[in-house]
Amino acid sequence: MRHLTVILCLWGLTSDASAETGAALYARHCAACHGANLEGQPEWRSPKADGSYPAPPHDAEGHTWHHDDAMLTDYVARGGQAVLDEMGVSFRSAMPAFGETLTADEITAILDFIKSTWPERIRQAREQRLAPAP
Ligand code: HEC
Repeated sequence: MRHLTVILCLWGLTSDASAETGAALYARHCAACHGANLEGQPEWRSPKADGSYPAPPHDAEGHTWHHDDAMLTDYVARGGQAVLDEMGVSFRSAMPAFGETLTADEITAILDFIKSTWPERIRQAREQRLAPAP
């Protein structure tokens, strides 16, 4: 917790308002499941009794950075189940939809906050991964 407080303070000093708002929105809407420090829930790789999975971390340990912005935005706005159903993936998702609660700008601000916590090596790996094939 102290770690996050330090980060949030540094944010206030160094970064623009949208990252600050994103951090606050994250704390209010996402931290309960994905963790105050984006660490996710324990045993997030193992399914629960009902077949759904615990919330994964959004930090460098997780796989959030594997996905492009459109996918992440869609997942948050429509929730995991709607997105996975549409992709034909048979999976029981416990990720709620936030399209009614948050505006598109707020979702972008939260995702910007999450991305701003990734170390440089993860950002570069993500860019390479998401770059169109030559
Ligand atoms: C009630 C618990 C809960 C809350 C609150 C929640 N999530 Fe999730 N989220 C999950 C679970 C569980 C998954 C795991 C995959 C699944 O079930 O679809 C997930 C998956 C995700 C994913 C895709 C997986 C990944 O990391 O690649 C993203 C992105 C995401 N959540 C973002 C958010 C954001 C942003 C918020 C806040 C606006 C939020 N979540 C709030 C439970 C939650």
